[in-house]
Amino acid sequence: LAGGSLHQDLAGTRVLVSAGGTREPLDPVRFLGNRSSGRQGWALARVAAARGAEVTLVAANVEDPAPFGCRVVPVGTAAELGAAMTEHAPAADVVVMAAAVADFRPAEVAPAKMKKGGSSEPSSVALTRNPDVLAGLVAARPAGQLVVGFAAETGDADDDVLGHARAKLARKGCDLLVVNDVSAGQVFGRPDNAVTVLAADGSATDVPAGPKDLVAAGIWDSVAPRVTTRR
Ligand code: CTP
Ligand code: CA
Repeated sequence: LAGGSLHQDLAGTRVLVSAGGTREPLDPVRFLGNRSSGRQGWALARVAAARGAEVTLVAANVEDPAPFGCRVVPVGTAAELGAAMTEHAPAADVVVMAAAVADFRPAEVAPAKMKKGGSSEPSSVALTRNPDVLAGLVAARPAGQLVVGFAAETGDADDDVLGHARAKLARKGCDLLVVNDVSAGQVFGRPDNAVTVLAADGSATDVPAGPKDLVAAGIWDSVAPRVTTRR
């Protein structure tokens, strides 16, 4: 692990991390999913535990073994992830929403496997919007709790990556937003990652590209000084 993990700057801190990607069922055997591997969230949990935190990891569809010293709460759908986060957030000093949460789910889940042929063959999938878990956590947060969001952004005709990210940070109301620039290539499922940590006070800290454990250590270097242990 990174040198940062040798100091116990998160000793006694209760950390809640979500990781992975939600799956929204279409029928008993199919789902709408995303490419999140859960590796960055896993690294954040592992590094926080190594630096002394008490870590709960809400894990959406991640097969990897639990990081050493972390309690894992497995979930499948966005609704399950939301319920688990809502249950565990009140006891946390810092909440990190690293999971890729589906924005939409199928409006109806077929009770039996959809079959080819016949009159019931589907021609399209109707979707309905999932609640924003992060926004709900921000709205319900206890005084003194730090809430950290994640965003994967690309630049476009409207704005660059940091512009989109600043707008998202303001919209979400969280304290910090960890921003991934995904314009250049694929981050998903790869061991390396580079991020910028944006704060509601306007500061931006770059964490250079490296293995996800090193990036996690860099993220905690930005986050840890802002955490207050509420007990
Ligand atoms: N998030 C969430 N609940 C959702 C969607 C997203 O809690 N239903 C969280 C993610 O875990 C992440 C943050 O919100 O920490 C930003 O996710 P992102 O997909 O970038 O934001 P959205 O508001 O969904 O915006 P976009 O339309 O760009 O996808
Ligand atoms: Ca989204």
